[in-house]
Amino acid sequence: MSMTITGSETALHGRPHDNGPAIIARGLRKTFALPAEDVHAVDGVDLEIARGEFVTLMGPSGSGKTTLLDLLGGLETVTDGELIVLGRDISSARESELVTLRRGRIGFVFQDFLLLPELTAIENVALPATFARRPVDRSTAMAHLVRVGLETRASHLPKELSGGERQRVAIARALAMSTDLLLADEPTGNLDSKNSRDVFALLRELNERDGLTVVATTHDEKLGATADRSVHLCDGRVVM
Ligand SMILES: Nc1ncnc2c1ncn2[C@@H]1O[C@H](COP(=O)(O)OP(=O)(O)OP(=O)(O)O)[C@@H](O)[C@H]1O
Ligand SMILES: [Mg+2]
Repeated sequence: MSMTITGSETALHGRPHDNGPAIIARGLRKTFALPAEDVHAVDGVDLEIARGEFVTLMGPSGSGKTTLLDLLGGLETVTDGELIVLGRDISSARESELVTLRRGRIGFVFQDFLLLPELTAIENVALPATFARRPVDRSTAMAHLVRVGLETRASHLPKELSGGERQRVAIARALAMSTDLLLADEPTGNLDSKNSRDVFALLRELNERDGLTVVATTHDEKLGATADRSVHLCDGRVVM
């Protein structure tokens, strides 16, 4: 079976009510109830992100960037408020429902790459989609590697790749999961400045060329400023 990897894939999976903004959050809250205290990690966020927008989340350590990104991607349940992601209201979704909602709709990229060390680059790209019951064949996985410029590294193990290349494999893996929305938490946190710029340039290219909506956290002001818009957080709230 061959699969297209462009926007037509979206059409094939028919998503109802899917023409509005990529993300709408209103009064969004996430509170972690700890024995000693409640931590208001996200404390009333109003945010709208258009389809095809490239947004960076910025702010000091502990300001709630990761928690907000996890909420947007359905990795955390919402404590309070409204959250609509790709046309679906996930405000009151339970953990088990979030798994289904994430499947094949949202791609994640993390600071630590999270590649499986014993699998080659191309196998790392293909594996999560298989777990998500949307298996991609080898040629599709290769096409995603081509998109990140790594076709010549397909059979390399992670340890045989540079840090920047590892992150590009992780981005290709995210693309295999979603051609709509890519959420990246400190994708350049483990990279030097040259590789960091390259990774952001790649995210920008995927955003402009393929219309991917990108939300990425970063501590780097310069990189943050390369996005269409930066949203600054402090103490779980959006600040100017
Ligand atoms: N699972 C959790 N349980 C309890 N508290 C948490 C949990 N996750 C995050 N927090 C707290 O929520 C707040 C926001 O954390 P978060 O990880 O979102 O910050 P961040 O902006 O991503 O910080 P950094 O820049 O260091 O990555 C912090 O005070 C943190 O200690
Ligand atoms: Mg974080």
